[in-house]
Amino acid sequence: MITINLPSEQDTIDLANYLAPILKAGDIITLYGDLGSGKTFFVKHLGKELGINEEIDSPSFIIMKEYLGGRLPLYHLDLYRLKDKEELYDLGIFDILEKGVTVIEWPHIAESILPYQTFKLDFHFDGKSRWVNVFPDDDHKQYFE
Ligand SMILES: Nc1ncnc2c1ncn2[C@@H]1O[C@H](COP(=O)(O)OP(=O)(O)O)[C@@H](O)[C@H]1O
Ligand SMILES: [Mg+2]
Repeated sequence: MITINLPSEQDTIDLANYLAPILKAGDIITLYGDLGSGKTFFVKHLGKELGINEEIDSPSFIIMKEYLGGRLPLYHLDLYRLKDKEELYDLGIFDILEKGVTVIEWPHIAESILPYQTFKLDFHFDGKSRWVNVFPDDDHKQYFE
């Protein structure tokens, strides 16, 4: 695990810009952290750097949004309002995982059915400072040493 301080929005943008080019189809990024800690902000910029021109906003009411038109398809999920992990099967989550990059906010409910290896980012904001704890999956460890 490494900790990256994110004192300004640009620091979060820099992290998104660093990560986007090293992602491949099948990668799953799980985003932890309280409301307002910067998860959606990060996804917006990850999408931008993947070449998606469409504005990315929070998918919390519709659970999943698909963005095509970038270097890879981006699937943005927010499971905050998901009541039952069985709903993920109805959403077709296992059909999309291999197609592109899947980024999941509030992934806790899905942990038991996701592949063991996800790239985990745990965002923190204590009212003053912002930072993220980075837990890369095996494929990306070399980029975070
Ligand atoms: N360093 C930073 N990284 C990310 N967001 C920041 C930062 N500094 C300020 N912000 C602001 O904090 C807010 C984070 O909101 P959001 O990304 O929607 O949080 P979450 O999805 O975790 O609930 C955004 O309005 C963003 O502009
Ligand atoms: Mg959010």
